[in-house]
Amino acid sequence: MKEHLGESMANTVVVRHINVPFSCADLSPAGMRIAHLSDLHFCRWSRVLETARELLRSLPYDALAVTGDFSDWRRNWRRTVRMMREFFGPIAGNRPIYATLGNHDHPRIAEAADMPIRFLRDDSTIHEHRNGLLRIAGVEQLHQHGGDTKKACLSRDVDLPTVLLAHYPSTVYRLGSARVGLVLSGHTHGGQIRLPHAGCVWSNDSLPPRLAHGLSRVNGTTLHVSAGIGVSWPLPVRVNCPPEISILTLDPLTAEDAAPTSENTPIRSTPQKTADI
Ligand SMILES: [Fe+2]
Repeated sequence: MKEHLGESMANTVVVRHINVPFSCADLSPAGMRIAHLSDLHFCRWSRVLETARELLRSLPYDALAVTGDFSDWRRNWRRTVRMMREFFGPIAGNRPIYATLGNHDHPRIAEAADMPIRFLRDDSTIHEHRNGLLRIAGVEQLHQHGGDTKKACLSRDVDLPTVLLAHYPSTVYRLGSARVGLVLSGHTHGGQIRLPHAGCVWSNDSLPPRLAHGLSRVNGTTLHVSAGIGVSWPLPVRVNCPPEISILTLDPLTAEDAAPTSENTPIRSTPQKTADI
């Protein structure tokens, strides 16, 4: 596997294929594939965006989940809406796109007309998979403690297995009574600057840096944090932390996954494909 470091990362999007332990009473969602995208931070069109869009048109998945921070700055929401149409328009087809907003987003982007995205604003929707039903919930976090997770997760049939989209990964510590099999988050940018050996040293959230990227088990729930696509002020660079798209395949939870020793530790995953431009 070729690794791309430093400057070369500017033109690279990593695709990670990850089997995700998912807890639910029946295993109907097993095998479902969710493409996880985050933190696009639209500012100007780039080769990375072009590559990400092409990958999302061709990769195999059943639904696309986007966990917030579409914008660079909230005040630029009109430009963000234009770029969202340019980016997501060609991707949209018969595969649904679900999304939540993040702390860089203006709520008006979720109200724009003709956007091929189902925004989940403290709400949920039922996704019909070939094997059964899955609830996709989303909490709107325009700031760290924003939104109502309980309302999002209880807004439909309570017995359905649930995937929660939440911009801040620390939401996994605040699920309360909501039964969530998988939390998808962004915000950390995977640490954005990852040091050799030390990895991520700052999560930008109340989450241990070691959990700021990838897959982990936290309080009995699986958490996946995307490194995202873009960057934002005051740190407009990525080092050892390329833009990424993750293809998550839901797998039945095993006893080993659920063991207490698996708690609060990253579950290793390997990038299987790196797209150069
Ligand atoms: Fe972000």
